[in-house]
Order: sequence, then structure tokens, then C-alpha cells
Amino acid sequence: MNLAERDTALRELMDDPDCDPDALAATLERFDLVNRAIGGWGRVWRRGIRPRLQRLGRPARVLDVGSGGGDVVARLATWAERDGLDVEWLGIDPDPRALEVARTRESARVSFAATDAAGLRAAGETFDLVLSNHVLHHLEAAELAEFAADTRALATGTVMHADIERGRLAYALYGIGITALERGTFLRTDGLRSIRRSYRAEELESALGSPWRVASPAPFRLLAVADGDA
Ligand SMILES: C[S@@+](CC[C@H](N)C(=O)[O-])C[C@H]1O[C@@H](n2cnc3c(N)ncnc32)[C@H](O)[C@@H]1O
Repeated sequence: MNLAERDTALRELMDDPDCDPDALAATLERFDLVNRAIGGWGRVWRRGIRPRLQRLGRPARVLDVGSGGGDVVARLATWAERDGLDVEWLGIDPDPRALEVARTRESARVSFAATDAAGLRAAGETFDLVLSNHVLHHLEAAELAEFAADTRALATGTVMHADIERGRLAYALYGIGITALERGTFLRTDGLRSIRRSYRAEELESALGSPWRVASPAPFRLLAVADGDA
């Protein structure tokens, strides 16, 4: 397997509008387990998100763009409540099939909507913090530039986009680890394709350009961070 360069010609099964709906729903539901295992959001919450929300000293509004099955934003909401922070969470995704799964995770503080960052920007919405998980590697170059600009335009505070870091060890370990979870889902095919489509830190920093900075907050993870300009 050549992982020296991004394989941008690969398409993930979940990005096919005609893919098997049951397998897609199972994939979106089981992203929860995958994100818990490899997402690294615990550290990002403790070191990045929680201190920023605490500094605000008032109720906050946070947006998750491309929220998929909604598990990341639902988990962040649980941690905020545990840590005594008053936060309203919104997950958005342009795919109605993702929304259907995400809505099973709605709660008093967490809601979901079928839109994208450009739609919310046009509506004049703003948020204290904007984040995403595993969206960047799905985007073509022009889409990435728009996504980066739209998400900054929505944030009065910080924007944080998390993704996988491409690498041989990540590919090998995912291939082994996913065996227990993959049944009836696209998790093996799409996970391995995701790794092949993903960036290395310096590639992502160069693709996003100034003022984005890309760090590796956990093994096989990237976090692109910029100040919002809302
Ligand atoms: C791999 S899934 C990740 C879902 C979720 N964030 C997670 O971590 O499990 C990628 C999601 O991004 C969404 N997406 C793709 N392009 C997008 C865009 N331009 N704006 C917002 N969401 C997008 C897709 O519909 C899909 O639900």
C-alpha cells in the first residue's frame, strides 16, 4: 500500500447517494465506537475546548459541522454538563440520511439541522466555537477552501477541525482493530479509504494556508486550528 501521497481519486462508499441505506445507518451509528476509540476528543476537550468555554464566563453556543451520526457533539455536551458549563450545541450535516441517525441523539442542549456552513453563514449565524470531525478528508481542494472560510466566518472564537493523519501504522492498526466492529457497515472500506485520502500535518497546513495551524493532539490525529473572523 502506497501511503506516501494522498489518494484523492478514492471515493468512500458513504459518499454515494445510492449506497445501501441500512449499511449507511449502521455505519453512522457505529461511528460512536470508532470516534471513542480513535477520536482523541477527550484531550481536545480538556486542553482546547473546555478552557475556552470557561474563559467566556457566560452561556456558549457551539457548532459541529458535518456531524454525521451526532455522537461527537452529543459526547461533548455530556462533558460540558458534567463540568458545569452552560452550552447550546448544534450539529449540522447536508446529508438527510445522517440527520436521521443524529436526531436519535438530540437532547435539551443538543439539536441537529440539515444544512452546511455556507447555509448558516448566509443566514448570519455565529457561534463561540466551531468544530468538525473527519470532514476535511472528504473535501476536494475548492471545497476545503470554502469550508475553511465559511467555518471561520461563523466563529467569534476558535475553529477546530479534527481529522485522521495518514500513515502506514494507522492503516495497519485500523485494519486489525476494525474487524470486531465492521459487520454490516462500511467501516472497513471507508475507514481504510479515509486514511488513504487523509493528510499529513504539513500537507494540511499547506492546503489550508494562513492563519491555520495543524497539530497532532493524539496518535494518528490532526487538529487544524484558526481564530474565527465573525
Ligand atoms: C466521515 S463522516 C463524519 C461524521 C462525524 N463528524 C463523525 O465524526 O462521525 C463525514 C460527514 O461530513 C458530511 N459532509 C461532507 N461534506 C460536507 C460539507 N461540505 N459540509 C458539511 N458536512 C459535510 C457528510 O455528510 C458526513 O456526514
